Amino acid sequence: MQDRIRNARMLERVMSAEQAAELIKPGMTVAMSGFTGAGYPKAVPQALAARMESAHAAGEQFKIRVLTGASTAPELDGALAKVDGMELRLPYQSDPALRERINAGELDYIDIHLSHVAQHTWYGFFGDVDLAVVEVVGILEDGRLIPSSSVGNNKTWLEQADKVIVEVNSAQPAELEGMHDVYYGTALPPNRKPIQLLHPDDRIGEPYLQVDPDKIVAIVHTDAPDRNSPFNPPDETSQQIAGHLLDFLDQEVQRGRLTDKLLPLQSGVGNIPNAVLEGLAAGGYRGLTAYTEVIQDGMLKLIKDGVLRMASATSFSLSQAGVEEFNANVDYYRERIILRTQEISNHPELIRRLGCIALNGMIEADIYGNVNSTHIAGTKVMNGIGGSGDFARNGYLSVFMSPSTAKAGKISSIVPMASHVDHTEHDTMIVVTEHGLADLRGLAPKQRARKIIDTCAHPDYRPMLQDYFDRACRDSFGKHTPHLLGEALSWHQRFVETGSMRP
Ligand code: COA
Repeated sequence: MQDRIRNARMLERVMSAEQAAELIKPGMTVAMSGFTGAGYPKAVPQALAARMESAHAAGEQFKIRVLTGASTAPELDGALAKVDGMELRLPYQSDPALRERINAGELDYIDIHLSHVAQHTWYGFFGDVDLAVVEVVGILEDGRLIPSSSVGNNKTWLEQADKVIVEVNSAQPAELEGMHDVYYGTALPPNRKPIQLLHPDDRIGEPYLQVDPDKIVAIVHTDAPDRNSPFNPPDETSQQIAGHLLDFLDQEVQRGRLTDKLLPLQSGVGNIPNAVLEGLAAGGYRGLTAYTEVIQDGMLKLIKDGVLRMASATSFSLSQAGVEEFNANVDYYRERIILRTQEISNHPELIRRLGCIALNGMIEADIYGNVNSTHIAGTKVMNGIGGSGDFARNGYLSVFMSPSTAKAGKISSIVPMASHVDHTEHDTMIVVTEHGLADLRGLAPKQRARKIIDTCAHPDYRPMLQDYFDRACRDSFGKHTPHLLGEALSWHQRFVETGSMRP
């Protein structure tokens, strides 16, 4: 432990996860580290869940309010959700047990842009932060913390929380030290200054997290890896979607709108973005950059092959194989990867300045290009908006991708009216399915509708969409963005009633 905790005073505060969990009381607002299954605390939340379970068995209520960076893992979100231990959770989540409770209406879930979480916390919109639980790689002699495999909101949690529990995880590679860039120049209006980050590889902060040592009430030693979900190779549909997008990027280069270095890439996680990344390598691109949220296995490979010159993110999200690859070549990757706070990785000012190419998944788009990223049938939340809004609204290009159908063809991802809107038609430039790519730039609403129906819709649903649009053009109250208001959500209603959008 001494090599990880180099401050003698801090060594005196080491205790078990169970003892540390005793410091968390019912009703507290607890801010935890963690972003996309990386860098989350692994022992204290589980010890806390055990306490909650005992309390509930004894008829006592024990719930807390949980703030994180983004999604975590079964040891945190899963453990607390299973014992019904959360009254509030924010922001992005993707845990099945937690999702079930949220959609059963058993806790409040606040889904906000990831770039907003820190500033909403500073303004006090979520109340006081009683305690932070933050995983780190180690503690320096001077008490500063070496961040772990994600940075997320940790800077803000350490500043805003009254007390801090630190988990020092020796399973995280010590070599992560030096990869982070924690910027301490953010302020609230009217005192904000321009952030001097002009290129994705600029370093504007320091590699460590600062914390008032008097706030640290417990240090817990852990030795457990991140979630490390296995990685599925891209399927045929994903490859087709990626193919359309890569053809489009090639054309943009040929037209001179983009150079062959493109612009900094932002890529969501999942099958389709992974297929796009693989396609970039096959397409001969070299020396690209990424300014994104998460580094997944596919990006490591691109960095190794020289397709990506460097990547800036706030978190890793690697499989076990990815972790092994990273550990084996850590010196190489340290020169080419920067992990930042999520307020900087997702900062609208920086995304607009850098001109990111935003590549994100969606649940559905309507014929005008309004995109739903979060809600099945408008009411059941899937994960959350994550950083998709930060990048789509501010990037040079905003691309939304999805298979044209879901649930074995029972659902069309192109619908007359989106049942929930996360990204408005004003923010959506490109929609891609396996059937084609609709470039909506420079088009008016009715032109957009024709393009999306003709290009992106599944052939089974295309005639239904065309019929709806034709009748809307004829009978709509207004003719600028034609809709039949009584019918616009009838496809979703049919799905809710029959399990299928098909008539
Ligand atoms: N209606 C009903 N269900 C749908 C659907 C639709 N139109 N479209 C997708 N689904 C279901 C799928 O069937 C699947 O369900 P399952 O888990 O029961 O199999 C699930 O949603 C996920 O869909 P999938 O096709 O596997 O895509 P994905 O893993 O790429 O996820 C989103 C798609 C939209 C859920 C995901 O991209 C997301 O959460 N986006 C918002 C956040 C974001 O963009 N983050 C990146 C920014 S950094």
